[in-house]
Amino acid sequence: MCGIVGAVALGSDITPILVEGLQRLEYRGYDSCGIALHMDGALRRTRSTSRVADLKALVSRDALAGSTGIAHTRWATHGAPATHNAHPHFSGRPGGQPRIALVHNGIIENHEALREELRGAGYVFESQTDTEVIAHLLDHLYNDDLFDALQRAVRRLQGAYAIAAFCRDEPHRVVGARNGSPLVVGTSESANYLASDALALAGTTDQILYLEDGDVVDLQVGRVWVVDSEGRAADRPVHTVPAFTAAAELGPYRHYMQKEIFEQPRAVADTLQDLDTISPELFGDAAYKVFQETQRVLILACGTSYYAGMTAKYWIEALAGLPTAVEIASEYRYRTSVPDPSTLVVTISQSGETADTLAALKHARRQGMENTLTICNVASSAMVRECKLGFITRAGVEIGVASTKAFTTQLTALFLLALTLAQSRGKLDDAAEAEHLKALRHLPSAIQATLALEPHIIGWADTFARRENALFLGRGMHYPIALEGALKLKEISYIHAEGYPAGELKHGPLALVTEQMPVVTVAPNDTLLEKLKSNLQEVRARGGQLYVFSDTATRIANEPGVHVIQMPGDYGMLSPIVHVVPLQLLAYHTACARGTDVDKPRNLAKSVTVE
Ligand code: F6R
Repeated sequence: MCGIVGAVALGSDITPILVEGLQRLEYRGYDSCGIALHMDGALRRTRSTSRVADLKALVSRDALAGSTGIAHTRWATHGAPATHNAHPHFSGRPGGQPRIALVHNGIIENHEALREELRGAGYVFESQTDTEVIAHLLDHLYNDDLFDALQRAVRRLQGAYAIAAFCRDEPHRVVGARNGSPLVVGTSESANYLASDALALAGTTDQILYLEDGDVVDLQVGRVWVVDSEGRAADRPVHTVPAFTAAAELGPYRHYMQKEIFEQPRAVADTLQDLDTISPELFGDAAYKVFQETQRVLILACGTSYYAGMTAKYWIEALAGLPTAVEIASEYRYRTSVPDPSTLVVTISQSGETADTLAALKHARRQGMENTLTICNVASSAMVRECKLGFITRAGVEIGVASTKAFTTQLTALFLLALTLAQSRGKLDDAAEAEHLKALRHLPSAIQATLALEPHIIGWADTFARRENALFLGRGMHYPIALEGALKLKEISYIHAEGYPAGELKHGPLALVTEQMPVVTVAPNDTLLEKLKSNLQEVRARGGQLYVFSDTATRIANEPGVHVIQMPGDYGMLSPIVHVVPLQLLAYHTACARGTDVDKPRNLAKSVTVE
């Protein structure tokens, strides 16, 4: 969602670093952007409701430059995506020159009460944002020490925030604070930086400190000073973050999404890490005891991660015999459920910062379910810190908003979890373990072989690009894959798509089937194949056009109205991981044919850090 970059340097112009940082954060999704600098003893800013490239042009037109500044990409929550709502926001004594510049990610829940109070103190609001409230509050509390003012200001805030600010009267200082929204510090000899994601600083510095909730930080050149929520000095270690500049480079690909689809063999192989045995330690030191205590599993996640959880339910129940519930995090947190302390609560999240999933996790813990595990792609994320156990997928940075390699690595980790739970319950003998490990080791090459189908899928994409609706069908553990295929198509091509378990067709959606409605079917040779074939007859009988992903043993032939792409193999229980790949490619090439912004689809953000 929103992105923050801030910097304070020794004399040099930091404008290019701020703009480049915003460009690196563009993938998170935004609808306006802005930059503010300390220049000639005053605050200067420029804002745009267009892309960061437009902001860059405005910066150069206005000859903005400075060695202290902050920049932001905004994803609108409070107030429309308009220039006056874009960050940075300014504040100053009523009637005076601007003194404070501030950017913010997150949501301030008590902004209305604070707004009234600050109006009473004479402040005039130019925007509808909750952020402007923080800027005025900071100015109101300012008494020649910005760091002190920010520490006092955050005590008045309720909600989630990552903040960066600087002051006209203290030109060599940038301050920041975090609570519930990520914020990191980057350090170097000549400058110090703030960013909502270390990726923003790729190529600038690899020396990163991760702030914790409640931290307030003071940045000057040669000095980084952090205090915790109690105002005590806090020592946050500096990590050397491996060079991740490569993640931000497109290489030979047209879009990050395409690059990330093609990275899946590597991402899955890295996630498996030469695994030669199944053991609870894969999930953390306390896993052995936790798994022994586990009587049921509750999976909490959103979006694509939720579909990974739905697939895992089939695996966990079949292999480990443990009752498994999968819930959409934003629903679970607000409903009355029946807690059971013998439950293993599993959260799944690419970013590890999704507000709904974090809140659902905290809700489960408050209900006495302390055995928590996360499958997450970001080791330093809040989700990993909040859970007792964890498994870090090794997808690498995912930049395309539509999740691809994060999904297949989540599924890989969840299959390992199902095997481990089965082992803990005495349901996995050595022969079965060896068989499953062999299949897992083959997975990267199975995905690689599937990627070779791309030219055939491009052929289909041209037809899909001319449609406004599509149905995706699957049965059993391929039903969540149908849902994921539909989600991919709708989010990047804007074609309305729905996923259904094929058996549900005649209970409603069959009414929609016409020649104009492509029906995509995931049809591996599994125990439900014959049932699925009957469902497909129902579609054909109504003139529906079938697009079938079969496998070597499925035996569904190409004929008028039935278009078949044969997957290169038969993948048994791992089939969902392989079968999602052509659906990703279909969505990608359909979106390309329609000319949409594939990596940054409208209205969407990469990391959903607000409710
Ligand atoms: C869809 C997509 C989203 C995310 C969802 C959860 O392509 O990426 O549906 O899966 O917002 O995000 P994480 O996994 O970061 O918790």
